[in-house]
Amino acid sequence: MPQDAAHIDHNKLNAFIGQMLSDLGGAASIALVRMGDALGLYKTLQAEGPMTAIELAAAAQVDKRYLREWLSHQAASNYLTYDPASGKFSLSPEQAMVFAIPESPVYLMGGFDLMAAMVDNQAKVQAAFKSGGGVAWGEQAGCMFCAVARFFRPGYHNHLVSTWLPSLDGVVEKLQAGAKVADIGCGHGWSTVLMAAAFPKSQFIGYDFHPGSIEAAQAHAREHNLTNVRFQVGTAKDYPETDLDFVTFFDCLHDMGDPAGAAAHVKQSLKTDGTWMIVEPMAGDRLEDNLNPIGRIYYAASTMVCVPTSLAQEVGTALGAQAGEAKLRDVISAGGFGNIRRATETPFNMVLEARA
Ligand SMILES: C[S@@+](CC[C@H](N)C(=O)[O-])C[C@H]1O[C@@H](n2cnc3c(N)ncnc32)[C@H](O)[C@@H]1O
Repeated sequence: MPQDAAHIDHNKLNAFIGQMLSDLGGAASIALVRMGDALGLYKTLQAEGPMTAIELAAAAQVDKRYLREWLSHQAASNYLTYDPASGKFSLSPEQAMVFAIPESPVYLMGGFDLMAAMVDNQAKVQAAFKSGGGVAWGEQAGCMFCAVARFFRPGYHNHLVSTWLPSLDGVVEKLQAGAKVADIGCGHGWSTVLMAAAFPKSQFIGYDFHPGSIEAAQAHAREHNLTNVRFQVGTAKDYPETDLDFVTFFDCLHDMGDPAGAAAHVKQSLKTDGTWMIVEPMAGDRLEDNLNPIGRIYYAASTMVCVPTSLAQEVGTALGAQAGEAKLRDVISAGGFGNIRRATETPFNMVLEARA
């Protein structure tokens, strides 16, 4: 039945339209932000300081008419700062942290790559809604793998060695002395390489079932000239390593078809006093706990990437990216781990420690 106009609360309607305009503005920015990244526009502005459109066009070697329109969009989006008096555009220190400084903890370019890959995935996931089947990780559209690696890298770069590992009981001491470590579902291997560089006396092996990701990880390790890390294709349930001191899963347990089976395999691959670190997206246990900006992005990624990935595998548990600690604990303890605790957290991730 059509809504009676008399029942419309115009204040609520206006507020909602305001939200929609902001959302559409964000969605419309995906391609523009990625072009700014690919063409080096943010980096040039960051390096050179305030510039007019003509100055930036010359410095970045792009067409000045296109650039003027792009700059106008960026200023209207509050992604760049415009000074009408001088006609110059600049990146504030805060804008630079998001768009131009890959080492910053809030560098979000990978997020824009991820949004583009999710849009590309629509046809495959839409068909899966009808069939109930999955979309295998290796079949996802665009370079989902590159986008995911880039999205998570700032968190690992800024937290893994400095806070996440020290939050675990006795692990840093073992890594300093020389430990045997496996990083499972390692993707492009950023986490593995960070740990290998920080702990040269330990030996690291990264496993992932996606051959393309393992090739990228191997290339990445070569760039860092590390001799204590290697990468191999393998699943979470069949990697051959045993007597491990430490096993890590970064943002991948919920993607697996059989996370409880993976947990059991981790258990038998560890020494009796070994530790399993599980990094998972931050989430509360109930839907109503996750109705916030971070939950919103993770539920979208979960629908478009994580659930299809899990449903394409055996068992197809499909925990989803917002599983929450209680469901994760169930899966981890099903694998035989009796001691599980939340060791630390960031706004994007929770870090769980599991021991036998
Ligand atoms: C969201 S990505 C995270 C990648 C990487 N750990 C990171 O944080 O950048 C999930 C990864 O899990 C891998 N994966 C999913 N199911 C797997 C399984 N059953 N065995 C091994 N790897 C798996 C995927 O290939 C993918 O690289």
